[in-house]
Amino acid sequence: MQLHLSTWPEVEAYLERSKGIIIPIGSTEQHGPTGFIGTDALCPEIIALAAAEEADLLVGPTFNVGCAQHHLAFAGSMTLRPSTMIATLCDWINSLAHHGFEKVYFLNGHGGNSTTIDAAFAEVYAQSSIPPGSSHGHRVDCKLRNWWELSGVFALCKELYKKGHGSHATPSEVAVTYFAYPGHIKNAPLDPEIAPNGRFTDAEDYRRKFPDGRIGSNPALATPEDGGKLVKKASTALIEDFEKFNNE
Ligand code: NI
Repeated sequence: MQLHLSTWPEVEAYLERSKGIIIPIGSTEQHGPTGFIGTDALCPEIIALAAAEEADLLVGPTFNVGCAQHHLAFAGSMTLRPSTMIATLCDWINSLAHHGFEKVYFLNGHGGNSTTIDAAFAEVYAQSSIPPGSSHGHRVDCKLRNWWELSGVFALCKELYKKGHGSHATPSEVAVTYFAYPGHIKNAPLDPEIAPNGRFTDAEDYRRKFPDGRIGSNPALATPEDGGKLVKKASTALIEDFEKFNNE
């Protein structure tokens, strides 16, 4: 079930049987010469929607611009400042809590969001704890899960890509998007085949160290078939993980 395709009476009825919702969360940022700019938002969305086909769970709108300042030297990348993202996430979470959602599960597609999402959870809990309690008595429990950390998913990534998985514009994330959008598969030369690894600070530093945008990866290995396997593995694990969280 998708929030955007539901009516308010349907959501009211859902709340009678569940207090949990999944919010895909990601980023709008370059993913090398062959990966979609939407990769980090699309992956958790694709996986969450696949899970919603198999189980009675609600998927909310995708939070699709995250913390990506380090990608701003590449055309098309967008970012929120951490402070903006924290404030926005608080409003998203408190809106849902207002209706009686008690379990908000963020399925994340961008590692660079993690610390900011955790800070937003801390802000929501502080609002709940500090008198006079601006959460208006609606207590909410939030969870962050990176999709590649769902049970069995990283093991499958390692099995599929023994070399050249890397950490940005990875063949696994690119494969998930190619599986869902086969009409948009890209071809471009990748030189070197496996991108360099390393640390970075701001956008200029990133572009200098990783000139085509990839980190440690060879996304030429990505196939839609692999993507299908990853979506199946991740969506099955997501159903289980979300159910466990709902019952905590
Ligand atoms: Ni990514």
